[in-house]
Amino acid sequence: MKTKEKKFMSANKIEINKIYCADFFEKVKDFSENSFNLIVCDGPYGVTENDWDKMPDIQQYNLKLIKIFSRLLKDGGSVYLFGKPNCLDFIDYRPHLKLNSKIIWYQPSRLAQGRLNFTNNYDVIGYFSKGKSKVFNLNDIRVPQLVELEHRKRCENVPSVLNGKWSKTKFDERGKNPGDVWGDIKQLTYHSKELISRELLNTIQKPKRLIERLVKASTNMGDLVLDPFCGVGTTLEVCLESGRNFIGVEQNQHYVDLTKKRLQKVEEERAATLFS
Ligand SMILES: C[S@@+](CC[C@H](N)C(=O)[O-])C[C@H]1O[C@@H](n2cnc3c(N)ncnc32)[C@H](O)[C@@H]1O
Repeated sequence: MKTKEKKFMSANKIEINKIYCADFFEKVKDFSENSFNLIVCDGPYGVTENDWDKMPDIQQYNLKLIKIFSRLLKDGGSVYLFGKPNCLDFIDYRPHLKLNSKIIWYQPSRLAQGRLNFTNNYDVIGYFSKGKSKVFNLNDIRVPQLVELEHRKRCENVPSVLNGKWSKTKFDERGKNPGDVWGDIKQLTYHSKELISRELLNTIQKPKRLIERLVKASTNMGDLVLDPFCGVGTTLEVCLESGRNFIGVEQNQHYVDLTKKRLQKVEEERAATLFS
């Protein structure tokens, strides 16, 4: 059988399309600057009892990451940084990256309910770029139009609209921009087919559809994506399936093993499809 061709990062010998079991802050020393088109950062939130999530000051931690990411990114490359509503409060990221959106990932069905405050029903995904973003593939991430817009489509044929000053706002058959409040992608549950194992619910594994939206919006085929805290490899799986190159870093050997199995399954399914 033909062995898979190895690919390397430009300017050094770091192999890509691989997951590395390491502390990101150590491993990053091996990476070349100006190399990545996209960084998907779903790391510590500073809210759980997991050792890796215990953080005295999540904002300073995120600022440190933002500085590192701005060096690693190519001009016009993007970062998505996950966190809780306060994850970017009172830090000045502006000398390093441009904040394009604070995406709200809305999850109305949280089990834990607040008794002294309003229940937190969303995560923030900070969408940054290094300078002006070079890639935003809107057509690859469109979502269905709302019912209200269906109604509007009918209204477009009314003569006063056709000839009036609003006639240019046309209904687009391909769907609409997802906007910056995402309630259409649910958290994984115990019943989710894609859940790798029950221990990963809540704090670890993210839904593939969520990561797919980020990867498809901000990269083209062949681009290089970094996931510095890649858990069980959701970003890497999405990249493999959609023709993007990737590097993943994860310090937990068990998660690294689960990721390798996940990627191997994608390769096997692909090979099976080819043969059939
Ligand atoms: C929220 S999880 C990522 C989940 C991932 N998005 C997925 O869908 O599988 C964060 C991960 O970061 C890892 N982590 C935390 N600090 C790290 C560090 N300094 N270096 C490498 N990995 C780290 C944790 O072990 C954990 O698996």
